[in-house]
Order: sequence, then structure tokens, then C-alpha cells
Amino acid sequence: MASKSKFQAIRGTRDLLPPETALWNRVEETAHSVFATFGFGEIRPPVFEPTELFARAVGGETDIVSKEMYTFKDYDISQELQGLWSLVFSARNPNTYDETIELAKLTGRLIAVARSGLESGQLSRTPENLRAIDQIELYSSKLPGLANQGPRETGPAAASLRDAVTDLDLGDELSLRPEATASVCRSYIEHNMQQLPQPVKLYYMGPMFRRERPQKGRYRQFYQIGAEVLGGSDAPGIDAEVIEMVMTFFDRLGLAGVELDINSIGHNAPDCRPAYVQKLKAALEQVKDKLGADSRRRIETNPLRVLDSKLEHEQAIIATLPRIVDHLCADCAAHYAAVKRQLELRGVFFKENWRLVRGLDYYMRTTFEITAKGLGSQNAVCGGGRYDGLVELLGGPATKGIGFAIGEDRLILSLQENGKGAAPQGRDVYIAWMGERAYATAVRAAKDLRNVGFSVELPPTELKFGKALERADKLGSRYALILGDNEVSEGSWTLKTLADGTQQKFTEPELLEFLKRYP
Ligand code: HAM
Repeated sequence: MASKSKFQAIRGTRDLLPPETALWNRVEETAHSVFATFGFGEIRPPVFEPTELFARAVGGETDIVSKEMYTFKDYDISQELQGLWSLVFSARNPNTYDETIELAKLTGRLIAVARSGLESGQLSRTPENLRAIDQIELYSSKLPGLANQGPRETGPAAASLRDAVTDLDLGDELSLRPEATASVCRSYIEHNMQQLPQPVKLYYMGPMFRRERPQKGRYRQFYQIGAEVLGGSDAPGIDAEVIEMVMTFFDRLGLAGVELDINSIGHNAPDCRPAYVQKLKAALEQVKDKLGADSRRRIETNPLRVLDSKLEHEQAIIATLPRIVDHLCADCAAHYAAVKRQLELRGVFFKENWRLVRGLDYYMRTTFEITAKGLGSQNAVCGGGRYDGLVELLGGPATKGIGFAIGEDRLILSLQENGKGAAPQGRDVYIAWMGERAYATAVRAAKDLRNVGFSVELPPTELKFGKALERADKLGSRYALILGDNEVSEGSWTLKTLADGTQQKFTEPELLEFLKRYP
């Protein structure tokens, strides 16, 4: 007999559990409060968007879009249409007269429902869909005439019918967000935020999804805390302030071994990045034979990404390649110099890293990455940069933009590795009660204590005092409030301090006073 398999979280996803979630909450609360001091407001975009948004923003050729997105069709159509579509799509080639007629009937129903879907707007009236329905009708109408002639004739007609059915586009193609910059830009455009006082400063936190190979610090559902500044200005002070904000946040959390790398990757004009990429490509061609397969392939597809290589034997070769800082146009060079001055002004320490190119297509000029201790190979806790022109690329007005995203999972991991994890959450008061009357008092006491903010554990069934105290101890409670019928009738309650076993008697108001003084 097949054994019932247990359900488990999908590979690359996991449950975040107490007490660790207390640390997640602390991190998120700190982000809310630090970002608010820099004038940022929170945005909560949806977790899925049209695939096309990410393809256009992040870049169709990037790993994120070409390999790692969770993409699905969103069937905004009736169950009937969906069901008929599946039946026709998965129908076997008909073998007999009856089977052929049956398939023709089924297809006839599909056509009728699809046409009414076009009328009601559930099915998009695209040229592709109109053509697909005509084709389905054509092949379906041939079936009855072929019904008597056997599978040799009906088979090819059924195959063509299935092809036409596949062409019917039942819904939008959506993807779980692999990042949120694209969503924030989409939202800026959708809500005409260019009419608000500029720049618009937004931050977000939440899950992102990438189908990467899971390992320490790398998940398929992971969490980011990010921020974006959008508006008309690309003043270097904006770049520096955004970076200062992340560093302040990390500092507030006590993150250890924080290192900030910065670079400028210029902009997409003939006298700037493209000219450098040509030079880089030429230099790479010269050393091609000494490079590994991945880097060799990237010479053609994206030479800048060769600089990202972690392969030991490629490092000495890469060190000899031309550097983008020496090939920036005058404007980009001036901007980069000003960003560095602005960082110094704010007392933000940084290291210039000419090899810092980011894996998303929208960047220009300033790019940065922050690493922290205790993370092994996945040690980037934050990545970001400037992306002027992205809003325009997505159909909005000409807009400058810069932002970053912190990998919250990695941030938490690094805090834990360095002794900044959350302590197990105990209870303030465990109420050990015995007897019906005592229970009514215990319920009221629990309510009063919780109302003033104490965490209280009230066992739902009666326990012997010994057992109750044992449980109180296991839960890490600070105090046990002992309520028996005697205590209730005398109006004098016993409070036991679990750490040293001492007991004191209080009236109800005295107890509240005491706990407020010694919480
Ligand atoms: P990103 O470099 O792709 O940039 O991701 C930012 C951070 O998210 C990384 O540094 C890392 O900490 C974390 N991260 C990425 N993938 C994973 C994963 N599979 N598991 C765990 N953590 C991960 C962006 O996403 C850009 N949208 C950042 C940005 C905002 N640039 C401008 N504005």
C-alpha cells in the first residue's frame, strides 16, 4: 500500500518560525523607523505582475528573466471555457466514427463558448485569438466528413485542431515578482506620481521569487527590504543619501563586518559605456583561450558580466582588463566624483570596485553592493544603483531613479551568526489556577494583565499546581500567579518569581503595581 507522503515546504522555500520571527519583526520595525526619518513612505505592490513588465525592466536576456521567473497563465475565463479547452487539447486521435463525431461536438461547444467569451470580454479580442478560433472551426468542420474514413484521415485533422487550440490565448502571462523596482516604477506611472512633490521616496518589504539553486543564503522565496527614489533630479546627493540610509539602518541593527563597494557603470551613449564594452570585448578576445567556458560565452552575450567571475584562475587575467572608470564620459565621471565626495561628507566609508557590474539591465552610473560577515559565498546583503530612464522605458515620463534592495534572509543570517539573534520569547506571567471560582478570576486577571501589555499564559484546563509550575518554567515564564479557591475568597493572590522561587502575597491592585514596577 502506498504510504501517505508528508507535505513539506517546496525546495527553496521555508517556514519562518518563532522565536526567529521576533528578529524579523525587529529588523522590519527598525527599517520602518529609520526609513521614515529619511522621509520615505511605504509602498506595497502586488506580488505578481505581467511577465512583460519584468522582461522589459530587468532585461529579457538576464538570468533573472530568462531562467528564474515563476511564470503562469492567468485564466480570467469561465470554468466552462477552461474545461472545454483542456478536453479538446488533451483528446486522443479519434479511432471510430462515434469518437470523431464526439470530438466535433466538443469542439463545437468550445467554439460557441469562446465566441461568447469574446463578446463578454473574458477572452481577449486579439488578432491571434480571432485567427485561432477560425482555425479551430475550420478543422472541426472537417471532422464529420472524415468520420467514416478511419484514423488515417481523422488523425491529421485532430492534430491540426489541437495546434489551433494551443494558439488560443486564454489569459495574461503573469510572473511572481523576482524584484520590486519594476513594480515601483509601474506604480509611479500608474498613479501619476510625477505630479507629487519630487522626488518621490518609497520603500517596500516582502517576498520575492527566483528559481535559483538553493543554498545557504539563497532561496526561491526570499525577502527583500528595498527603497527607491524617483523624480526629476539625479543630484549626486540623492545617491549618497540613499546609501547613507542603508548604512544607518545596518548600523542601528548592529550588523557586523559591513563593507560597501561602489562603482559607476556610465551610461548608454556612444562615448561612454558602449565604447568601453567594445574595448573590453577586444581585450577579452585576446585572452579568450585562458578563460573558462562561461566567460568565453559571455564575451559574446554580455562582456561586462565576465568581470563578475569568481573563478580562481580567471582573477589574474581580469585584473589586467581595461577599467570602466577610465572610460566614462565627462558627465558620468563628474557625477561619480561628486557621489564619492557626498559620501565622504556624510562619513560613509566605501571601497571603489571597478568590477562591480550588476546582473540587471536597468542600471547606469552609480552601482553599489554591501557585504556582511558570516554569510559564506552568498555574502551580498544589499545591491542597488541608479536607473535613470527606466520609468520612460516602461511608458512613463522621463524620470531619474535610484534605489537598493536588501536581502532580508541574509541580513537575519548575518545577525544570528554574530550573536544578534532573538532570545526565545518567554511569558511574563503564567496563571496556575485550581477550582471553578479561581478560573473565573484567572480569566479576568489574564484580561487585565494583557490589557496593560503583559504576555500571559492561561492554561485552558485545570492542572495540579506542581504540573502548572513545571509548564510555567518550560515556557520561560518570569512569574507564576497562583490562584486557588482560598486565594480568591481571601482576595490575596500569590505571585511566585520562578528564577529564585520566592513568593509574595498581593491584592489585585498591588499585583498590577508590582508587575509594572518589576516587569
Ligand atoms: P539584486 O542584487 O538582484 O537587486 O537583489 C538584492 C539583494 O537581494 C541581493 O543582494 C541579495 O541580498 C538578495 N537576494 C537576491 N536573490 C536572492 C535569493 N535567491 N535568496 C536570498 N536573497 C537573495 C535587486 O533586486 C534590485 N531590484 C535592487 C535595486 C533596487 N536596485 C535599484 N533599486
